[in-house]
Amino acid sequence: MSPALGVYIHWPFCARICPYCDFNVFRHRGHEDQGQALTSAILTDLKNQAAGLGRRTLVSVFFGGGTPSLMAPAWVAEILETCDRLWPGGAAPEVTLEANPTDAEAAKFQAFRTAGVNRLSLGLQALNDPDLKILGRDHTAREGRAAADLAAKIFPRLSIDLIYARPNQTVDMWTHELDAALQIGAQHISPYQLTIEPGTAFERAVGRGQLTPPRPDLAADLYDATQDHLSRAGFDAYEVSNHALSPADQSRHNLVYWRGEDYLGIGPGAHGRITRNGTRHAEVAAMTPSAYIERVTRIGHGVAESECLSPVAAAEERLLSGLRITEGVPYADLTALDLHPDHGEVRALTADGLLVHDRNRLMATSAGRLVLNWLTRRLALA
Ligand SMILES: C[S@@+](CC[C@H](N)C(=O)[O-])C[C@H]1O[C@@H](n2cnc3c(N)ncnc32)[C@H](O)[C@@H]1O
Ligand code: SF4
Repeated sequence: MSPALGVYIHWPFCARICPYCDFNVFRHRGHEDQGQALTSAILTDLKNQAAGLGRRTLVSVFFGGGTPSLMAPAWVAEILETCDRLWPGGAAPEVTLEANPTDAEAAKFQAFRTAGVNRLSLGLQALNDPDLKILGRDHTAREGRAAADLAAKIFPRLSIDLIYARPNQTVDMWTHELDAALQIGAQHISPYQLTIEPGTAFERAVGRGQLTPPRPDLAADLYDATQDHLSRAGFDAYEVSNHALSPADQSRHNLVYWRGEDYLGIGPGAHGRITRNGTRHAEVAAMTPSAYIERVTRIGHGVAESECLSPVAAAEERLLSGLRITEGVPYADLTALDLHPDHGEVRALTADGLLVHDRNRLMATSAGRLVLNWLTRRLALA
């Protein structure tokens, strides 16, 4: 089989910009006219980038954002038909679309399914109105539940995103909310710990003393409660913030990232990793919708930055992403770092309970996954 490929499509528009979010996003209002032009640019970018890749097996297409559920289903269908033509044969890829749970977007779910989406990732974030208000969301808990129930009926696979470690949240409140989330029937749950990102409205509110995130010890208790609660409900924490009911329910798209496979980044600000002639390239598309459309129109693709990663830089990246998942990373992918089972640092970190000892693969324990950046730095420097 030819090497696996993922395609990430970034749809940067949102109805409202949430105060905690630092993704590459733009207000939808005032940009309504750009949707068709952006879709045309995405199609051109996709075809031209595919032409230079050689044979690949398409395993996943991911519409991320921003808010791709604001797209017209016809645009999603056109992009998926193009993917089918560019990478024919093989098993049907996983096709995920991120959706916000407003009534207006839920009304389009059936059309997205007909367009070829077979996995919906629903951004519920919270299941109570006061917290949705704090998070600046434009939907109610009732709307969220209704969208989730509808999505569970329409899509073969459903994933839900939640944000925890909110201001004033207790372990008790959170575990009750997790119980409610478990009732939805999603096969995949991504609970993300609230991060106060630089440059966001939340960062400014924390600076003014108007918002107080939980102290680190409470945040750690909330993390432990999450792992505990979901694992008792039969969900495996196959990655730090990703829990799946069975191996088949894991996100194939995220596994592309964590296994160091290649993926195209299409759309404003999208990141890609592509191996050409044995060298891995880190690529970033032009950031704003206008700059992206202009670039694709002028030179045929949207890539604004392309860096050849040295073997050491590529192996460091492979190490960091591979240790996030329980399956770990094969030593064969880490030869540039000269890491092997008998390496002194590997043995020491295994004795400390942070790594798992195996002759073929390097894996982090759950304690190790909590200090991944530190762990990776220590292994890479060794
Ligand atoms: C790129 S967002 C797109 C999802 C969709 N637009 C939505 O808001 O539902 C993907 C996920 O990242 C998570 N996220 C974004 N910013 C975050 C932050 N500062 N802290 C924790 N999670 C965050 C949210 O759970 C969100 O669903
Ligand atoms: S969290 Fe989602 S809806 Fe909110 S600004 Fe970020 S991408 Fe847009």
